[in-house]
Amino acid sequence: MAEPALEVRDLVKHYPVRRGLLRRTAGTVKAVDGVSFGLGRGRTLGLVGESGSGKSTLARVLVGIETPTSGQVLVEGEDMARLSRAGRKQLRREVQMVFQDPYTSLNPRMSVQEIVGEPFAIHGVAPAGGRRAAVGELLELVGLEPAHANRYPHQFSGGQRQRVGIARALALRPRILVCDEPVSALDVSVQGQVINLLEDLQDELGLSYLFVAHDLGVVRHIAHDVAVMYLGRVVERGRETDVYDGALHPYTQALLSAVPEPDPAVRLTDSPAITLEGEPPSPIDPPPGCAFHTRCPLARTLGSKGDGETDRDGGAVSAGMPADGGAARAGTGAVPGRATAAGGAVSAGVPADVARNVPEPCTGSTPVLRPHDGNDAGQPGSRDDDARAGGEPAHLAACHFARTLRAPARVEP
Ligand SMILES: Nc1ncnc2c1ncn2[C@@H]1O[C@H](COP(=O)(O)OP(=O)(O)OP(=O)(O)O)[C@@H](O)[C@H]1O
Ligand code: SF4
Ligand SMILES: [Mg+2]
Repeated sequence: MAEPALEVRDLVKHYPVRRGLLRRTAGTVKAVDGVSFGLGRGRTLGLVGESGSGKSTLARVLVGIETPTSGQVLVEGEDMARLSRAGRKQLRREVQMVFQDPYTSLNPRMSVQEIVGEPFAIHGVAPAGGRRAAVGELLELVGLEPAHANRYPHQFSGGQRQRVGIARALALRPRILVCDEPVSALDVSVQGQVINLLEDLQDELGLSYLFVAHDLGVVRHIAHDVAVMYLGRVVERGRETDVYDGALHPYTQALLSAVPEPDPAVRLTDSPAITLEGEPPSPIDPPPGCAFHTRCPLARTLGSKGDGETDRDGGAVSAGMPADGGAARAGTGAVPGRATAAGGAVSAGVPADVARNVPEPCTGSTPVLRPHDGNDAGQPGSRDDDARAGGEPAHLAACHFARTLRAPARVEP
């Protein structure tokens, strides 16, 4: 199997929270908390999730703006951490970033020639034919004129500025672009043009993209694969059609069902609308067990069934458990109050009625937080594996985390 262009293994980025005059460490922001995925060559992985879920932090670590707390980043199979300084600098050229806001990411005092040509200077690269010619070619590649090299950022529209940002990102001929909300600061009318440009460049240059966006419609359009982040972790990922047409994780289902769509005929998902209440908890003190349990509508439905009896009605949010439920049977359909009894697992700040109504696998002290691993890298735990393993009871198929509690061996990479 071809190795992915970019691979991330158990990546962690924590920030210390410092307080007081002495700047003592008072906690840790778990911005990225154990993320793994592969990005295939010539493919686009869309990364979605609510504000604060860790998308930009992950993006910054991947391009080397931030150093990971732990975990591995492999570019073309090479572990960045194991390379010499020179080797790391060389490999960094392969992964470049397109920033969100073309108004602030381009230095207003620099000409486009200086902006687009700067990576050559930073990396000591002398392009064949000279820097001016190389900048001219890059500008043509992104749909601008070579003569635009003499202008300054304020002389361009937003879309044109983002084209300048893309030209700069391409200067060193990278193989991977990390695009952090590349169109969300642009007028809707211009967004499509920039997306089309990125798609054309991918075809022409064989680029791989990690594409971060809030707009699930844009991600559906551009991405081959999708990963969904919640509180620093990827909770689901898979091929675009699998995730959009059959999301397994209740969080993904809620995100998709919340997308406003003026034309009901082209809704992103067929599932009934799910209301996602409240804000995500703080990444300084994420809830134990499944971090989504404080907001999960499915968990509350399961918990409210209450008596642990097997429910055979097979509804999408049924509390039904398999007759041989194993680990899951021990906790799902929990007796009210049991979640807190099991090791004090329910976090502070979770309202008592919510805590009481959440079944134990959701709050358990043995969290199994592997994401659904269904990308094209063909790793264990893919959706194909799930299909081969036979049908899941309805609630387990809907709840990935509960499912992994039941059968951890099958989803471990
Ligand atoms: N340098 C930093 N120091 C401390 N905390 C940080 C730092 N950078 C990010 N964070 C925190 O890490 C968490 C993740 O932030 P991040 O910017 O990665 O989220 P995001 O998913 O990109 O959000 P958005 O969709 O709003 O852009 C947030 O709680 C944020 O406050
Ligand atoms: S384990 Fe599943 S049902 Fe429980 S809180 Fe998490 S997503 Fe919801
Ligand atoms: Mg961000």
